[in-house]
Amino acid sequence: MNIVVVGTQWGDEGKGRVIDLLARKVDAVVRYQGGSNAGHTVVVDGEKFVFHLIPSGILHPGKKAIIANGVVIDPEQLLKEIKDLKERGIPVEKNLYISANAHVVMPYHKDVEKWEESLRGKGKIGTTGRGIGPAYVDKVARRGIRMGDLLERKTLEEKLNLNLKIYGNLLGFSYSKEEILEKFLEFGKKLKKYITDTSLLIYRLMEEGKDILFEGAQGTLLDIDHGTYPYVTSSNASAAGVCTGCGVSPRSITKVIGVAKAYTTRVGEGPFPTELKDEIGTLLQERGNEYGATTGRPRRCGWFDGVALRYATRINGLDELILTKLDILDKLDKVKICVAYRYKGKVIQDFPNRFVMWRECEPVYEEMDGWKEDTSKVTSYKDLPDAARKYIKKIEEIGKVPIRLLSVGPQREEMFTAP
Ligand code: IMP
Repeated sequence: MNIVVVGTQWGDEGKGRVIDLLARKVDAVVRYQGGSNAGHTVVVDGEKFVFHLIPSGILHPGKKAIIANGVVIDPEQLLKEIKDLKERGIPVEKNLYISANAHVVMPYHKDVEKWEESLRGKGKIGTTGRGIGPAYVDKVARRGIRMGDLLERKTLEEKLNLNLKIYGNLLGFSYSKEEILEKFLEFGKKLKKYITDTSLLIYRLMEEGKDILFEGAQGTLLDIDHGTYPYVTSSNASAAGVCTGCGVSPRSITKVIGVAKAYTTRVGEGPFPTELKDEIGTLLQERGNEYGATTGRPRRCGWFDGVALRYATRINGLDELILTKLDILDKLDKVKICVAYRYKGKVIQDFPNRFVMWRECEPVYEEMDGWKEDTSKVTSYKDLPDAARKYIKKIEEIGKVPIRLLSVGPQREEMFTAP
């Protein structure tokens, strides 16, 4: 089986836990897009691990952890993660593989991003500040530095010459070429043993009939093409990103699993039709501990958006959904699900595809009774309160996708199957 796990909202759906759980059943876990803007925490036997780049599958003995070509890599961050894992006894050298064609996040990417955000003023994207957007800009502009280039002084120097001219002469940033060159060649030396042709590696694994999990970072609504542009990240976070991001055929994907939180959150700026700026929003934020894993920023919170889920089902071709953090809603008298939008007085069923529309859309809600019971310790679907089961059924109906797994509470064991 070759399974893709994608976020169906604006990221932070709890994919980390889901991936950690599914990783036990596969032979390799692959990251296909994004960079150290992503962040997830996995707790194993009370020990906390924070990952930004390395797939958390690395924690499972014998599983390959692959960072494919679609990812943009900050080598300093990657080396930090490797060091941390090694110090804690994880055999990274045996299981980590990095694509020679993954692009490198350079110091000027972070500087230019900061500058551009300041130019945007009130219209800023609210990025994670990790240089992700500018790194992808260089990739598309065909001047990007790839991981494999860190192994060849001449190529790296040539590319740096061009880039520093562009960032220096055109944008006015000034850097010491020698300093960057030596620093990044040193990164290359340290990472050489991991750098390989990951497309071929994945192909060979598939040929051997191994099971592979493709781990999406961020979420469908942050996809560069299909998200709420321009308030998105700079890669294809949806399932389609797997093919270009790994060099695998669309025919090889056997299953696409979406992950959604039982309510909605968004970190950074941009449209969010079901956002709650009241005490319920605050309650969700506090009970759900909704603070960004990478930047620590408080996440904006709101009701579940069924229109957005239906969109994610369509864009990704979801086979099934995993619903997380249901217990965060336990204390509410009433819960609401957005079932359509109202735009210029008209009710629309489909997720709009233009910025002005997202901004002006008003959610049409269906209100349901809350369950007012502690579900954080529930371990089977039949033990959920009736009202919670109705809520889950409604999400399935609106989102046009069956829910297969549910999670409550912070431990990875606390996940159970829906009927
Ligand atoms: P960037 O990816 O740093 O360029 O940020 C672009 C947008 O994506 C911002 O709104 C970020 O907050 C958001 N974003 C990026 N990565 C994540 C993530 O892992 N979770 C949630 N939001 C993210």
